Amino acid sequence: MRRKRIYEGKAKVLFEGPEPGTLVQYFKDDATAFNNQKQGVITGKGVLNNRISEYFMVRLSEVGIPTHFMRRLNMREQLVREVEIIPLEVVVRNIAAGSFAQRFKMEEGAPLPRSIVEYYLKSDDLGDPLVTEEHITAFGWASTQDLDDMLQLSLRVNDFLSGLLMGVGLRLVDFKLEFGRLWENEEMRIILADEISPDSCRLWDTKTNEKLDKDRFRRDLGQVAEAYQEVARRLGVLPEAGPIDIKGPRVMQ
Ligand code: TMP
Repeated sequence: MRRKRIYEGKAKVLFEGPEPGTLVQYFKDDATAFNNQKQGVITGKGVLNNRISEYFMVRLSEVGIPTHFMRRLNMREQLVREVEIIPLEVVVRNIAAGSFAQRFKMEEGAPLPRSIVEYYLKSDDLGDPLVTEEHITAFGWASTQDLDDMLQLSLRVNDFLSGLLMGVGLRLVDFKLEFGRLWENEEMRIILADEISPDSCRLWDTKTNEKLDKDRFRRDLGQVAEAYQEVARRLGVLPEAGPIDIKGPRVMQ
């Protein structure tokens, strides 16, 4: 079946879904970092992120967090609700790492006094700058009510996922969420969208501090696909034949 391509991002493609109000989210093996300056392919990543993100979204919906996820369709695709994406990346940090450690000249791994939530504007042209609530409301990217909803949901996601991951020997260092607006009748509500995967989280082994996330790609640490597989294995969602052997359906033109 040929489906209309709605949007193509760096790691995913969105196609028109089978029913109005739905989309098909296709996970690619492509990886980029530093706003597209570094590009590569992580073989099998799309298959693994499809499973890992499904797992997190289903667990989150079980504890009452609304998400766009409906069901997984195949190795690389999932059916999701169509939402109006809020053009912000909400980052929650538990431990200093990445751009935060650089900005404040902190050592990576330093614990933070409390979980810190940051907002970045989704803009490739501007390189996803850090923005404040003042910027967000003044430019109308989100309202104060939207921001409050996103903050509360992000902190609930952090608490729940931190515990879940601790149970499989992983420390949730930081992660990025995206939210969308969903209209039902006259009512608008904000739900979790996009994906939650080792592309969008920092995950460190609790015993060894080994990095099991996209930093292996960003920093050329090697064993990138293996790290994603290890996360899937620990969560109990590693496809049986092994993702390397299984070719996903080709992205339709
Ligand atoms: P940062 O330390 O580079 O700002 O990243 C914080 C978290 O957000 C980290 O878990 C990786 C994730 N992230 C994305 O998902 N997309 C991005 O474009 C960036 C820069 C970070």
